[in-house]
Amino acid sequence: MESTTEDPHPFWAIIRKLLAEASSPQRGKGIPRMPQQVPRLAAVFLLAVIALLVARSVLIPETFGERGHYRAAAADSIAAHAMKYAGAQECGMCHADVAALRASGNHRSVSCEVCHGPAAAHVAAPLDVKPIISRERGLCTLCHAYNASRPTGFPQVDSLTHNPGLPCIACHVPHAPVPPITPRDCGACHGQIARQKAVSHHVGLDCTTCHNAPEEHLANPRAVRPTKPTDRAFCEACHAGGVPGVPQVDRRTHGQPYLCWQCHYPHMPEAR
Ligand code: HEC
Ligand code: HEC
Ligand code: HEC
Ligand code: HEC
Ligand code: HEC
Ligand code: HEC
Ligand code: HEC
Ligand code: HEC
Repeated sequence: MESTTEDPHPFWAIIRKLLAEASSPQRGKGIPRMPQQVPRLAAVFLLAVIALLVARSVLIPETFGERGHYRAAAADSIAAHAMKYAGAQECGMCHADVAALRASGNHRSVSCEVCHGPAAAHVAAPLDVKPIISRERGLCTLCHAYNASRPTGFPQVDSLTHNPGLPCIACHVPHAPVPPITPRDCGACHGQIARQKAVSHHVGLDCTTCHNAPEEHLANPRAVRPTKPTDRAFCEACHAGGVPGVPQVDRRTHGQPYLCWQCHYPHMPEAR
């Protein structure tokens, strides 16, 4: 079993040599044998490959890869799901009064089905299927419970202290909610800033010491905005004006030429 042609690669030369030795009549007599673990290892590898092929054929779903790296039939089975949401426009066709009320109020951006649940079945058969009506506080605290990550100005309450025990809708109309009285406290909508200031060196200062907040801002906060300090002179009035009990800095050198609040957060100033 000698090879007559040159092997293209030394690997094949070694394989041929080993095969020749294994089948040689001289086997075991002087010529080194194929190491005995090699056939066993080969058998194990073969089994592994067969197991892999079997597993692949069993586990990979039909139609996988037909249109891309996904199960083609999944698109059809998803498309076959019954529609659950009707969409915000549908409700107004029969509930024009509620839709108009909502569109005029603070919840104009909250879709009906956020609170009433998926209602496509109700639209198809209004008298047979009724949407959910939750009158629990939990429905409202989902969005209005205090959470520091919400944007400043978003109305938030502490559910434990804000009129506990009563449903929210006892005092607020869910379709066009307004606080029954205009909030007097800036912290009602700027909770995070109020909480920080309360534990800072500026705890003694009112919000309105630094912000000129028109009355109208409390009722219509996005349209009418308070002022904000614009220059160093504002902070210097207390901190470089010799006001007793206020830590003083030299206005000509301290932090020049930057604005004070580029280094000190005004709602929680720290000096080190
Ligand atoms: C084709 C007309 C129609 C459409 C569209 C429609 N509704 Fe209604 N809905 C009704 C009628 C009629 C009732 C009153 C049933 C009754 O009083 O027995 C009703 C009642 C309700 C109720 C009160 C259920 C109760 O238990 O009292 C809610 C909430 C409601 N609809 C929400 C919605 C929402 C949300 C949508 C939009 C996804 C919607 N509806 C779309 C006709 C409609
Ligand atoms: C913020 C949550 C919320 C949103 C958004 C909302 N609803 Fe409601 N809805 C409620 C609650 C809570 C009640 C129960 C009120 C009660 O019992 O006094 C209710 C009651 C109803 C009722 C029963 C009759 C009534 O007028 O009290 C209908 C009908 C209704 N909603 C339709 C709608 C439609 C249509 C929309 C969208 C235009 C919508 N709702 C948006 C929370 C909501
Ligand atoms: C899906 C979120 C969501 C849910 C649920 C929700 N709201 Fe609102 N709410 C809002 C948004 C958004 C605004 C408008 C905020 C703005 O204009 O900055 C708002 C505004 C309000 C305001 C006006 C506050 C002010 O100072 O102007 C009140 C009061 C209110 N909601 C009460 C409720 C009540 C009561 C419920 C439960 C029936 C409820 N909300 C459920 C999102 C929600
Ligand atoms: C007993 C009546 C009552 C109940 C119940 C009630 N509120 Fe209020 N809510 C008020 C009043 C009064 C104000 C305005 C004064 C204030 O800030 O406390 C207000 C203000 C708000 C504001 C505006 C931000 C603020 O603090 O001024 C939101 C948002 C609000 N409430 C949501 C809710 C939610 C959510 C619930 C239920 C978990 C709820 N309310 C339950 C009476 C009530
Ligand atoms: C009813 C809720 C509400 C109340 C109460 C409220 N604010 Fe605001 N405030 C807002 C909203 C909403 C914004 C706009 C936030 C945004 O667009 O980023 C805002 C913005 C501001 C800004 C920034 C203005 C700007 O141009 O960047 C200041 C300063 C401010 N409020 C101060 C106050 C002060 C001081 C009080 C108390 C006298 C107060 N606010 C009470 C909701 C409120
Ligand atoms: C010592 C003065 C001072 C006090 C007191 C103060 N602020 Fe401010 N506030 C500032 C300055 C300065 C800025 C502008 C910061 C900037 O432009 O980066 C500002 C910015 C803001 C902004 C808009 C930017 C932001 O951080 O969201 C809001 C909202 C605000 N203040 C609300 C309040 C409220 C509410 C209070 C009371 C709880 C308060 N401030 C108390 C000085 C103050
Ligand atoms: C109405 C007077 C007044 C105004 C205006 C004022 N502050 Fe203050 N500030 C104080 C007082 C009072 C203290 C010290 C309180 C204490 O003893 O803890 C203070 C403390 C500080 C501190 C020192 C904190 C520390 O760790 O010792 C810094 C920093 C500071 N303010 C920065 C500012 C900045 C920035 C502004 C402008 C946005 C400003 N302040 C506007 C009254 C004021
Ligand atoms: C470039 C950054 C920067 C700027 C801008 C800046 N500060 Fe400071 N400030 C600091 C640092 C850092 C400290 C603490 C070390 C020190 O005392 O110099 C400090 C300390 C302070 C203190 C505490 C002093 C004491 O004796 O306890 C006050 C008050 C203060 N600054 C107010 C201001 C005011 C008011 C302005 C604007 C006129 C301002 N800072 C601008 C960085 C700055």
